[in-house]
Amino acid sequence: MCTSKENAFDEMYQLIRPFHKLHGILVPEFMTADHFDSLATVQLDASDVWISTFPKAGTTWTQQIVKLIRNQGEEDDVQISKSVPWVENSNYADIDIPSLPKPRTFKSHMPYELMPCGIPNTTPCKYIYVTRNPKDVAVSLYFHYQRSHALPDKKIDWNLFYCNFLNGNVEFGNFLDHVLSWWPHRNDANVLFLKFEDMKRDLRAVVARIAHFIGADISDEIVAKVADKSTFKAMKANAAANYSWSKTDNPGTTDFMRKGEVGDWENYFTAEQSEEMDKVCREKLQGTGLDYTFKI
Ligand code: A3P
Repeated sequence: MCTSKENAFDEMYQLIRPFHKLHGILVPEFMTADHFDSLATVQLDASDVWISTFPKAGTTWTQQIVKLIRNQGEEDDVQISKSVPWVENSNYADIDIPSLPKPRTFKSHMPYELMPCGIPNTTPCKYIYVTRNPKDVAVSLYFHYQRSHALPDKKIDWNLFYCNFLNGNVEFGNFLDHVLSWWPHRNDANVLFLKFEDMKRDLRAVVARIAHFIGADISDEIVAKVADKSTFKAMKANAAANYSWSKTDNPGTTDFMRKGEVGDWENYFTAEQSEEMDKVCREKLQGTGLDYTFKI
């Protein structure tokens, strides 16, 4: 159980590259305050669409869907991280946002009140927030830490990672606080709130919802085409969508496009961990109306 691991934070963060707090949120050091704060003056446009998520909840999947919708279902060879830039990441600081062709689509991992370029209820643009059941997010993020954040040859133990996830000591903080920052805005006119599990159940229906939300007039045929090009299998085989360009210092770790399933957590969570996470979810989500599907 997590409560017995008092030093989980120190134990894990000596195995990985430096992190720091940005406006109170734990982030990798490559997200600098200077760059983040410089975004506050960017002029947004009504045609801009933001995709915001807690990491591993379906960001890239949604980026690909919006990109394809805006391209009438046609793929190109531009990497998804360039087509839909993660603007708050200082590695993208050389992007000149005002000169990007419109309509623009951006990615962010920030909670509602900290969205770069303005709080959503003060801007003219649209926001798609995607969430996923926290057990699958924890497992997916565990493999991401191992692949992208661990120092060369360092191995992170699952139980250690799990504790840090539960305590909100992972990138972008506490998962449930993050989703609860967006949840009260789910019915705002400029917010579309989606769940990964619904995308798995009926991708075409979600593609049609996204297209309608962003005001893209596409036929049923194009909706089907977008869905076909956004399946896990299609994206894993697509060099512009599968992050094969992002290199790791830890050979033998998983691909970015790892499994894309609902319920893989069952292969990692102990029964105790699963109960503990259920309890935390019950307590924190009680009365909010938000719930998750852990298996389909
Ligand atoms: P897994 O590690 O469980 O496989 P993000 O883009 O937010 O970082 O999320 C990455 C997770 O989404 C990974 O989960 C990845 O495999 C999954 N994913 C990406 N594209 C997907 C798709 N088309 N269908 C299902 N899952 C997808």
